[in-house]
Amino acid sequence: MSQTRHFLTDLDLSPEELDRVLNLATWMKQRPYAVKALAGPQTAAVIFDKTSTRTRFSFSAGIAALGGHPEVINPGDSQLGHKESIADTAGVLERMVSLIIWRTYAQSGLEEMAVRSRVPVINALTDDYHPCQLLADLLTIRERLGTLAGKSLAYLGDAANNMANSYLLAGVNAGMDVRIAGPEGYLPQERIIRTAEDRAAVTGGKVTITTDPDTALGGADAVATDTWISMGQEEQKDQRMQVFGDYQVSAKALAKAADAALVLHCLPAYRGAEITADVIDGPQSVVWDEAENRLHAQKALMAWLLVESGLTDDETVRLVREGERG
Ligand code: CP
Repeated sequence: MSQTRHFLTDLDLSPEELDRVLNLATWMKQRPYAVKALAGPQTAAVIFDKTSTRTRFSFSAGIAALGGHPEVINPGDSQLGHKESIADTAGVLERMVSLIIWRTYAQSGLEEMAVRSRVPVINALTDDYHPCQLLADLLTIRERLGTLAGKSLAYLGDAANNMANSYLLAGVNAGMDVRIAGPEGYLPQERIIRTAEDRAAVTGGKVTITTDPDTALGGADAVATDTWISMGQEEQKDQRMQVFGDYQVSAKALAKAADAALVLHCLPAYRGAEITADVIDGPQSVVWDEAENRLHAQKALMAWLLVESGLTDDETVRLVREGERG
């Protein structure tokens, strides 16, 4: 019997599995309704403890395209977190749904859900990681540059947040040269850096953590940033605008990267803060492809996890195996 596969952090896919899932995403993007991994329709729970646009629509559209039904739960809509424990919620959901997709706060809560669930659990963003976003980002970079291994990616800004962690881990998992730049006090935790270095040693990737934006930017093939004010940090706005000022992705900063370097932003973006309007709306920006690729990458991920967990029919297995070969 297959063991249930979950996707809780960027390293829940081995480097080889990451390549297979990205191949499958490319293949399914060309055949949007071929894989019916959720035929029935089977229901997928899509639970939000925080607001969302891209994650909500990409999972809803993706689940529908796989032949399934997304049951979307908005913040405060269920008993989860206030009237019922995570474990009891998982015990109920696994009897009724084929996937649990959850945007929440603590990574430990997501892990508790996965321990109790016989169906795959997917991280739709926690305080620590945003691994689905990184699948879309890697797919976008691969589409534009052809390969990931050896390519350099600079991330500037709040380097202590979930996006910085995920850029670091997913990037080195793909064998990339990942440079993370942020001010002192806003850099990744040591445990994240050590984990990234360990994976980089296996894949040939590279880790640079710096307070100097120019060190990160020098000749980079791709430049990424994220909001300086994540959900729940609104009261710190004035202080954070000051702290991160030197890490803005502007035309001057982008000129230090490679010619035609790709510009990534997971959105929502704040023009004039972490990125200037001329850059995000300029010719090097790939942010709309990046947003669309949430759909394609997550469809591939959902189908792949269901196949690996032994929860699909033979035809879905056949199609997924064909697609993942690229
Ligand atoms: N990038 C991202 O996760 O967007 P949403 O918060 O709108 O889902």
